Amino acid sequence: MDVAGKKAVIFGGTSGIGLAAAKQLADLGAEVIAISRNPDKAGDVPAEITLKQCDVTDRDAVAALCAEYAPIDILISAATGGPRAIGPFLEMDLDGYQDSFQKLWGYANVVRFGARHVTDDGSITLVSGAPARNCRPGQISLSCVGGAVEALVRAVSREIAPKRINVVSPGTIDTPMVSMEGDQRTEFYKNATAKNLISRAGTADEVAQGIVFVVQNDFVTGTTVDVDGGWLLS
Ligand SMILES: NC(=O)c1ccc[n+]([C@@H]2O[C@H](COP(=O)([O-])OP(=O)(O)OC[C@H]3O[C@@H](n4cnc5c(N)ncnc54)[C@H](OP(=O)(O)O)[C@@H]3O)[C@@H](O)[C@H]2O)c1
Repeated sequence: MDVAGKKAVIFGGTSGIGLAAAKQLADLGAEVIAISRNPDKAGDVPAEITLKQCDVTDRDAVAALCAEYAPIDILISAATGGPRAIGPFLEMDLDGYQDSFQKLWGYANVVRFGARHVTDDGSITLVSGAPARNCRPGQISLSCVGGAVEALVRAVSREIAPKRINVVSPGTIDTPMVSMEGDQRTEFYKNATAKNLISRAGTADEVAQGIVFVVQNDFVTGTTVDVDGGWLLS
């Protein structure tokens, strides 16, 4: 798909990976609607990007917003949904584990209520995470949620064809998702990526390039593109 002149609706498009995708698509000439609970956090954005408020876990609000912007050429969700429980599963608070699935429920809302408004030559892209297929200690909930996201995409791809649906799976990426600052932040990313084949945090732009690839390439559907610095082999 040549994205110039096309309409992109991006849930979680006001920060980090989603915002980087919004800016890259806008640069390529798309009209972008970038959505989150507090969209002002995006700061100054190009005129091609419209900021909208919506909680991705609110089914009615997601359905209304998708209908408002129909037809949609490019539908993306990078919304984290809510906090994820970290730590050993056998010590895990199970309410925290269940709450971790807010990301999946948000994605499910976007696909369930958005797919019908996506054009036949259009696509949906979700964002999972490397723990889905290589879980490191303490990342059980990240792994389970990411795995479910990837399974959802594979399962739904048959149902919605010829519309396409894909996942991009990031490794450790330097985004506002991590609130630490200064030396503490530097040390966190250094430790988190020390054993990766590419031992640094990725950038939101590098992951957004993966998103733009699956949006543009009309022969890619039902699959996962890894942008993870070699996490899966580390
Ligand atoms: N950064 C990493 O290392 C990494 C690694 C693997 C996977 N990922 C995944 O990549 C995706 C993007 O992460 P990121 O690092 O770019 O995080 P981020 O900078 O924190 O951005 C997350 C975006 O999601 C929005 N959001 C969160 N909950 C929402 C909700 N309930 N409804 C609507 N919007 C919501 C946030 O805005 P509001 O707060 O205003 O709603 C924000 O725009 C996430 O799915 C994350 O799990 C990230």
